[in-house]
Amino acid sequence: MFGKSFVSVGALVSLVTTTSAQSAPGFPVSASTPLTVVYGNNTVSPPGELIPRGETAQPPRISPRTWAGDENGARSAVLLMVDLDVPRNGTRVQLLHWLATDVTRATANSSSESALLISSAPVPYLQPSPPVGDVPHSYTFILFAQPANFSIPAQYAELAQNRVGFNTSQFLKDAGVAESSALGANYIRVQNLTGTPTTTYPPARPTQSAAQNSSAPSAFPGAGQPLQVGGSALWAGLSTALLAGVAAVGL
Ligand SMILES: *[C@@H]1O[C@H](CO)[C@@H](O)[C@H](O)[C@H]1NC(C)=O
Ligand SMILES: *[C@@H]1O[C@H](CO)[C@@H](O)[C@H](O)[C@H]1NC(C)=O
Ligand SMILES: *[C@@H]1O[C@H](CO)[C@@H](O)[C@H](O)[C@H]1NC(C)=O
Ligand SMILES: *[C@@H]1O[C@H](CO)[C@@H](O)[C@H](O)[C@H]1NC(C)=O
Ligand SMILES: *[C@@H]1O[C@H](CO)[C@@H](O)[C@H](O)[C@H]1NC(C)=O
Ligand SMILES: *[C@@H]1O[C@H](CO)[C@@H](O)[C@H](O)[C@H]1NC(C)=O
Ligand SMILES: *[C@@H]1O[C@H](CO)[C@@H](O)[C@H](O)[C@H]1NC(C)=O
Repeated sequence: MFGKSFVSVGALVSLVTTTSAQSAPGFPVSASTPLTVVYGNNTVSPPGELIPRGETAQPPRISPRTWAGDENGARSAVLLMVDLDVPRNGTRVQLLHWLATDVTRATANSSSESALLISSAPVPYLQPSPPVGDVPHSYTFILFAQPANFSIPAQYAELAQNRVGFNTSQFLKDAGVAESSALGANYIRVQNLTGTPTTTYPPARPTQSAAQNSSAPSAFPGAGQPLQVGGSALWAGLSTALLAGVAAVGL
C-alpha cells in the first residue's frame, strides 16, 4: 500500500543536492522539502520569518509533506529544533530547543500533508529567548525518519539539562540517524530589542546577511577561545553556566 510513496534514501540525496535548503543558512543539515510550521494562527512563511517572541510560547504545530513509509506502513520520526546563534565565549554555538522521538502523524497516507503527533519529547520544547539587543537568532526545525531500534545514545542521557553546545551533526552520527533521511525542515527567527543590552555579542555568523549583522564587534568574556564541543568537561561547564542563569545565557 505504501510502496509507491516510499521515500527512498537515494531520492532524498539527489533532492538535497539539487534543491535549496529549508533549514537556516549555516545549519549543518539541509532537507529537500519544507515543513509547515504553525505558531498560533501564523503559518511560518517565508522560511526564516521573523516572529514575535510572544507567539512562540507554545510549541508550533508541524506538518511534513512527505513521510517515510514502507510496505509495512508509516514509520516514526525524530524532530529537532536548534538555535544556531547562542553567544558563548566570543563565538556562536547551538542550543537544542526541542527533541521529540517516536513522532507519528495523524494519517498513515505517506504522500499527503498531515500534522505531527508528538507524545515523547526527551528534551521538552523551550521557547526562544534571544538576549536583548542581539541579532535575530535562527531556530531550525528538522525532521528525520527514525531508524529501526532507535534510542538516544547513553552519552546524551542528560541532554535536557545540557542543551547549550549541542552539535547536531555529531548527535545524528551518534544516534545512527542519516542526514539524508531528513523529511523536511523550516526555520524561524526571533529577536529581542525591547531592553538595554548588558553585554556585547560576538559577530553574527558569516552566513547571516548584512541586514542581520551585529553592529558591534565582540567584547564578550572569553572571546577568542574557540569552543570545543563534545568533551564532558565542556558539558559540565555548560550545565553550570545554564544553571547559573538562563537570562544571562541567551537562548
Ligand atoms: C491571530 O491570533 C492573534 C493573537 O492570538 C489574534 O489577535 C488575531 O486576531 C488572530 N488572527 C486571526 C486572523 O485569527
Ligand atoms: C494519499 O494522499 C494523496 C495526496 O493527498 C492522494 O492523492 C491519495 O489518494 C491518498 N491515498 C490514499 C490511499 O488515501
Ligand atoms: C526581552 O528580554 C528581556 C530580558 O530578558 C525580557 O524581560 C523581555 O520580556 C524580553 N522581551 C521580549 C519581547 O521577548
Ligand atoms: C532491532 O533489534 C532486534 C532485537 O534486538 C534485532 O533482532 C533486530 O535485528 C534489530 N533491527 C535492526 C534494524 O537493527
Ligand atoms: C560537530 O560535530 C562534527 C561531526 O563530528 C564535527 O565535524 C564538528 O567539528 C563539530 N562541531 C563543533 C562546533 O564542535
Ligand atoms: C558584520 O559585522 C562585522 C563586525 O561586527 C564586520 O566586520 C563585517 O564586515 C560585517 N559584515 C557585513 C556583511 O556587513
Ligand atoms: C569559555 O571558555 C572557558 C575557558 O576556555 C571555559 O572554562 C568555559 O567553560 C567556557 N564557557 C562556555 C560556556 O563554554
